[in-house]
Amino acid sequence: GLTLDEIPNDITKKTPASFEPTIDYVVVKIPRWPFDKFPDADKTLTSQMKSVGEVMAIGRTFEEALQKAIRSLEIGRYGLGADGKDEPIPDVKTLRDYLRIPTHKRVFYIRHAIKSGMSIDEIYNLTKIDKWFLYKIKNIVDMEGELVKYTVETIPREVLLKAKRLGFSDRQIAYLLGTDELTVRALRKRLGIIPTYKMVDTCAAEFEAETPYYYSTYEDEDEVRDTGKKKIVILGSGPNRIGQGIEFDYCCVHAVKALREEGYETIMVNCNPETVSTDFDTADKLYFEPLTFEDVMNIIEREKPEGVIVQFGGQTPLNLAIPLERQGVRILGTPPDGIDKAEDRKRFAEIVEKLGIPQPPNGTAMSIEEAKQVARKLGYPVLIRPSYVLGGRAMDIVYDEETLLRFMSEAIEVSPEHPVLIDKFLEDAVETEIDAVCDGETVYIGGVMEHIEEAGVHSGDAACVLPPFSLSEKTIQTMIDYTCKLAKELSVVGLINVQFAVKNGTVYVLEANPRASRTVPFVSKATGVPLAKLAAKVMVGKKLKDLGITGTPKLNHVAVKEAVFPFDKLPGVDVVLGPEMKSTGEVMGLDSDLGMAYYKAEVAAETKLPTSGTVFISVRDEEKLRIAPIAKKLSKLGFKILATRGTAETLSAMGVEAEVVPKVSEGQPNIVDYIRSGKISLIINVPKGKGPKDDEFYIRRTAVECKTPYITTIAAAHAAVTAIERVKNGTFTIKSLQEYNGATAGDGKTVSAQLQIQNLSWR
Ligand SMILES: Nc1ncnc2c1ncn2[C@@H]1O[C@H](COP(=O)(O)OP(=O)(O)O)[C@@H](O)[C@H]1O
Ligand SMILES: [Mg+2]
Repeated sequence: GLTLDEIPNDITKKTPASFEPTIDYVVVKIPRWPFDKFPDADKTLTSQMKSVGEVMAIGRTFEEALQKAIRSLEIGRYGLGADGKDEPIPDVKTLRDYLRIPTHKRVFYIRHAIKSGMSIDEIYNLTKIDKWFLYKIKNIVDMEGELVKYTVETIPREVLLKAKRLGFSDRQIAYLLGTDELTVRALRKRLGIIPTYKMVDTCAAEFEAETPYYYSTYEDEDEVRDTGKKKIVILGSGPNRIGQGIEFDYCCVHAVKALREEGYETIMVNCNPETVSTDFDTADKLYFEPLTFEDVMNIIEREKPEGVIVQFGGQTPLNLAIPLERQGVRILGTPPDGIDKAEDRKRFAEIVEKLGIPQPPNGTAMSIEEAKQVARKLGYPVLIRPSYVLGGRAMDIVYDEETLLRFMSEAIEVSPEHPVLIDKFLEDAVETEIDAVCDGETVYIGGVMEHIEEAGVHSGDAACVLPPFSLSEKTIQTMIDYTCKLAKELSVVGLINVQFAVKNGTVYVLEANPRASRTVPFVSKATGVPLAKLAAKVMVGKKLKDLGITGTPKLNHVAVKEAVFPFDKLPGVDVVLGPEMKSTGEVMGLDSDLGMAYYKAEVAAETKLPTSGTVFISVRDEEKLRIAPIAKKLSKLGFKILATRGTAETLSAMGVEAEVVPKVSEGQPNIVDYIRSGKISLIINVPKGKGPKDDEFYIRRTAVECKTPYITTIAAAHAAVTAIERVKNGTFTIKSLQEYNGATAGDGKTVSAQLQIQNLSWR
């Protein structure tokens, strides 16, 4: 009921909300698109939104803000080109097409066009981008042309300063001067060219801001206020993208709260406007800056904090740990060498061997011939991943030599200097993971999770259950034991996440991440123990026992996490899951048993599992026997079963009645027609793997378009049937999270959920 003039502006506290802002800075926002993960997607930008995140950058000029925004995106670029990463300029005809059709790369083609002498008028005619922007971009390109005339020895101070004012990073300048980033940094400092930080006050300094947040620029007056308190810098995670989403913002916010409780001044650095950590009133100070070495180091030199936390922002700040430490920065928590031991696959392999922890057999290959030998030695199938490939090909499961050769020739073409990593792919293994906090002495196991989908579906894409429902006590103990050993060996102070594959009773470690993981919010909410907060306190010297943490929580409820995918927004993309993550978000379902918790998670992910109707089943040959018990159950539950010929034959041989429905290539009406007319209530399609766009591909895409629930793995089909059975035989209850977590044990009365659920398990 308040009117705007009655509400004070939170930043100034003096002006009312009705006060029109006066802005003496330029803000640029750029979306982050997921095309690196979906090479098959149509990359044209249309009225259908395709981005999964965004960055924001602030500067005194458009040029500065644009270049900062580009390097904030973490697409491997350090500004608008001239960073050693430019693609060759295409021929004029292609270039014209690239300008006419908007894609995520168009801004780089505008640079190409200007460089190749195309007039601003022509670029305008092709792009219809306002000429004001085009002239600004031209200023950047012209500056590039000027910089390239000099070397570190000859460049005049005013030229360097002008470049910094136009947002050029040290990396770009180094490339153009033919030197390296640190040399440019040293030169800059010698010449007194260091950033000043301006305050965002929304009133052009007419009134003083009460809650300051800052951006860098290269001017004369610095507006940063010092309070004299002990400070800690927390590095955020940059734009939301597939694999690094909002979970890290959650962790950063918790860290800020925890460190405040401990009496520190908190300084947040991030460039993602969608996050709570970049609200101006979350941390004591906020720097809206890119998370590159240069930008972060500048802030650290200005603020001189007690230490820097790199654990909560995902991979982005973790990668900065070593470069920052080399400059004398104190990294709080797990030391950079511990981080490196986990990140460097060679060092990690040495450690697990030393600790006697099994790892899937593996090797590396630099050539096709070597790859052939390694794969033969390991035995197919193998999991291959090129190291250091940006924006493109990543992991793949390879079943035969022919596919391996094709993959290798591509991988070698993309990055000839880097080895390809080859692991034995563990088939039919149960994937599990643990999130834990270590204070250097004690390890607190925050949660043991069991995935529904088997290893081979990325942990971020698999549904995940806490507590585990099919693992033996011995397996769980082994996982806990390995986690403790790894935490100690890596000198973890703070968070660690370890992922495992369990096969025939052996627990293999897949990887260990000495940082906040994707599942920290899920585990914290499922158990009622805030892991990120504990970790932050441990990192400033608190011990777990001082924080009242002992033992592992025993739950008497089940939490299921389910992934959410962007497939409906990306025509042409296949929905089949693999070792490369594709999901953009997640949901969580809670109940007293697995079936209902899974059902709730599915509903939340907009997959409403049917309780009656027709199920269409089509699975690859290897899985035909495994699908039969599922079909049998569905049939018993009253579903009508439709299947493709081969699947139907296996099913009827196993005593399940199934009606044959034609494939797309077998005439009409076929299965796609059935889906379109709404006759199918659930689709179970376990495909042959990544292949050509065959019949099954169209079935899956039609399911997405028609919003028909679909399942692509046997494991998920089992879980779905368990859920459907449960929903048909029971009621949907509602409880608050507090009621669930109030029951979190330690009271000695709760039974281990583990044992209760086991008899529901299909494994
Ligand atoms: N040797 C293996 N056998 C079976 N599945 C594997 C193996 N290694 C990795 N995976 C699968 O690939 C996924 C991604 O591998 P991971 O090493 O965890 O990479 P990332 O760094 O992307 O999380 C895992 O979640 C798992 O499902
Ligand atoms: Mg992983």
